[in-house]
Amino acid sequence: MVLYTLLAYASKHGATRENTALLAKMLDGEVDVVDLKRTKKVDFSKYKKVVIFSSVYAADVPKYVRKFVKRHRQELLERHFGICFCCMTEVYTQLKSYAIRGFSRELANHAVCIASIGGFFQYDKMTRFEKKLLEIFTKNQCYKNGELIQLDGKTNFSTIEEYKMQIFANKMNGIIIAEELME
Ligand SMILES: Cc1cc2nc3c(=O)[nH]c(=O)nc-3n(C[C@H](O)[C@H](O)[C@H](O)COP(=O)(O)O)c2cc1C
Repeated sequence: MVLYTLLAYASKHGATRENTALLAKMLDGEVDVVDLKRTKKVDFSKYKKVVIFSSVYAADVPKYVRKFVKRHRQELLERHFGICFCCMTEVYTQLKSYAIRGFSRELANHAVCIASIGGFFQYDKMTRFEKKLLEIFTKNQCYKNGELIQLDGKTNFSTIEEYKMQIFANKMNGIIIAEELME
């Protein structure tokens, strides 16, 4: 039996998009990748597992992700569902709060796993407004593996690491599908 997973991503400045192929490779079985910016409806019938892989801005997922999730609430509740963020925080309670705000408490509680692969501050792609927001709300500081890093507000900085992605993929791969056991 071929196991199909839907990997639906949402990216603004490209970091999430650039890591989607690697995450897809780490997930077992056949993985169909869709860009949520361009996809409004999906036929979920062949998918046993679904991963929403999204960037976070101002503690929320993009509006089109919220709409997609709302439209497909029932399909998501009926499947093994994981939420993977591409964002700067390493604090689980914050990740959970993004999931509750962006997806609903019901879906956040249903999720097998809520995690982040890290994030990428690409100052060269940010608007002046975005730079200002970061300065005010983060003082251009972020954590990488528990260490507080002071950024200069100009040089791009990434906390994305493959091992974080692998941990998330392992959790999704660890879900046993009943049909697989019967083979
Ligand atoms: C204006 C702005 C606001 C952000 N807000 C948050 C936030 O609230 N929490 C967080 O963890 N990361 C936050 N980030 C970090 C992004 O989630 C991170 O840069 C991510 O890699 C962006 O992904 P993308 O390039 O696919 O759009 C913010 C980044 C910017 C530029």
